[in-house]
Amino acid sequence: MTTNCKKILLVAGARPNFMKIAPLLRVIDQSYFDRLRPIIVHTGQHYDYEMSQAFFEDLQIKRPDYFLGVGPGSHAVQTAMIMTAFEEVCLREIPDLVVVVGDVNSTLACALVAKKMGIRVAHVEAGLRSRDLTMPEEINRMVTDVLADYLFVSERSGLANLWQEGRPPEAIHFVGNVMVDTLYLQLASLEETHANRPEPYAVLTLHRPANVDVASKLLEIMDAVAVIARDLPVEFPAHPRTRQRLEALDLTAGLTGRGINLLPPLPYKTFLRLWKDAALVLTDSGGLQEETTALGVPCITIRDNTERPVTVAEGTNILAGTDYQGIITAYETFKSTGGKKGRVPELWDGQAAARIVAILAK
Ligand code: UD1
Repeated sequence: MTTNCKKILLVAGARPNFMKIAPLLRVIDQSYFDRLRPIIVHTGQHYDYEMSQAFFEDLQIKRPDYFLGVGPGSHAVQTAMIMTAFEEVCLREIPDLVVVVGDVNSTLACALVAKKMGIRVAHVEAGLRSRDLTMPEEINRMVTDVLADYLFVSERSGLANLWQEGRPPEAIHFVGNVMVDTLYLQLASLEETHANRPEPYAVLTLHRPANVDVASKLLEIMDAVAVIARDLPVEFPAHPRTRQRLEALDLTAGLTGRGINLLPPLPYKTFLRLWKDAALVLTDSGGLQEETTALGVPCITIRDNTERPVTVAEGTNILAGTDYQGIITAYETFKSTGGKKGRVPELWDGQAAARIVAILAK
């Protein structure tokens, strides 16, 4: 290792982070090991095996160098616990750079700590905006982007947002989508041991607090999904938050009779195997809107807005809203058209991490 090897802390905390750090680590290991030294910090925001360790195994990410073990809590408590623990890591390591990804509480917490310690911050997936400040993720995105010295953008809307917000042009880099890097790599490595299912089916994921925490809203969404399930059986790997809410409403037992198959959270590859062949994906996730667009799988998003507008403008995504009628109308459009065809957005080519690391290594 040369003396001017830069020390980089890579932060991951929640399920949607792990597939975003994996390609960065791979590129560093393959091509920049003499210039960059990555140190992985897992905050422990997600802690169940299925939400966390299973992803490290599936994506072959090396063991985290630090596991902060923060676990659940209110937003304030969780963010504060991450900040306190991450400050100690920064004091010990004195890194040259902290890389945060996405929009979860770990992203915000670690960016804030690093910036106040005078450490440079890179944000991967910068500039996305839903303009909906009731979403905790929107607050995390906005604050992180104010702090970051490197803003790595996945779609053109992100460039426009950052320019509009007055971020310095030299900090903004349109690099493409690291999650799509992981998707293409893992897709190529799938052994097709399972024959494709002959009958068409749909896949559902749901976890946004606005959709699952209010009983009447969750019931309304599940009623619409049950109508779709009369045509297409629905596979439903439920997020722990959602399962808790379904159990509290005594809804889990009745799902099978309504054509909905409740599953635990699935590891990355098992889930990919399931959704890539689905006739339709129904989701309120950010990442899955992008992944379905990348593979051309029709997607109905159960949200009023999206911070990823390219998936609607160019991809396979239909924004349905969260009302019963909106979901049914979107489904009828899907049925009558066979789903949006779409195209793969600019720079979603599997090389985003290579572009990012090349910039960081300069
Ligand atoms: C978080 C992110 C969200 C991301 C989502 C993906 C924030 C603000 N939100 O939301 O952006 O899309 O992850 O999964 O950072 N729980 C478990 N086991 C776990 C993790 C969570 O049981 O491994 C439970 C928690 O105890 C809590 C609930 O699930 O009751 C929600 O977890 P939380 O970390 O608050 O946020 P997510 O909804 O997962």
